[in-house]
Amino acid sequence: MLHLDSTMLSPDVVELADRLCGLLPPSLSKAQFLNTGGEANESAIRFAKIASGRFEVIGMAGSWHGTTTGASSATYAHGRKNYGPAMPGLLASPAPNAYRCPIRRCREHCDMTCLDIGFDMIGATSVGSEVALIVEPVQSAGGIVVPPEGYFQRLRDHCESRGILLIFDEAQTGLGRVEAMFAFEEVGVVPDILTLSKTLGGGLPLSAVVASEEVAAQGK
Ligand SMILES: Cc1ncc(COP(=O)(O)O)c(C=O)c1O
Repeated sequence: MLHLDSTMLSPDVVELADRLCGLLPPSLSKAQFLNTGGEANESAIRFAKIASGRFEVIGMAGSWHGTTTGASSATYAHGRKNYGPAMPGLLASPAPNAYRCPIRRCREHCDMTCLDIGFDMIGATSVGSEVALIVEPVQSAGGIVVPPEGYFQRLRDHCESRGILLIFDEAQTGLGRVEAMFAFEEVGVVPDILTLSKTLGGGLPLSAVVASEEVAAQGK
């Protein structure tokens, strides 16, 4: 009964939403609860698409976002083979991996050119309907990849200049798994949509998508 659905809310669900949003900046003020990380990402993508009417979603090479259709289509770490077509409108950008650099400018040579090249490719392959970019602050299945300092600020700038919403998937990093409560605090960039799972339920199947009032209202 606690988790019946998202249209009939019990007081406990409202209290949980209040407590969760109380940990987050004012721009992340609307929470929806689901069961798994995949569903939370599915819902985040759905919110972004419905809010804008656009449909192209960018994922990062090396990413893992879940096994449902939308989340798995934005997943590039593995699990793409032998299933047939992915969801239409999915684009990819190089992994933010300075250790095994996608453009071979590893470690001390890293100047995050991969990000600019990625967005050039996105611009070239997009049909003009870009809506959101989904990213893990630390890639998990991709090999515990910590992006170089300043990466997310530059990513944010690219997203803003193209009018794309930024979704942070914090299934692995949220709620105290990195030094800060959330990895977005650590990297100094507040996403437009945040997804959480795993640690949120402490073993029970509980996940969340948190967005601004504006995105949540339009995405209904
Ligand atoms: C970063 C990330 N996002 C999403 C998921 C999917 O979560 P779930 O298995 O609860 O659907 C995972 C699962 O490992 C994950 O690591």
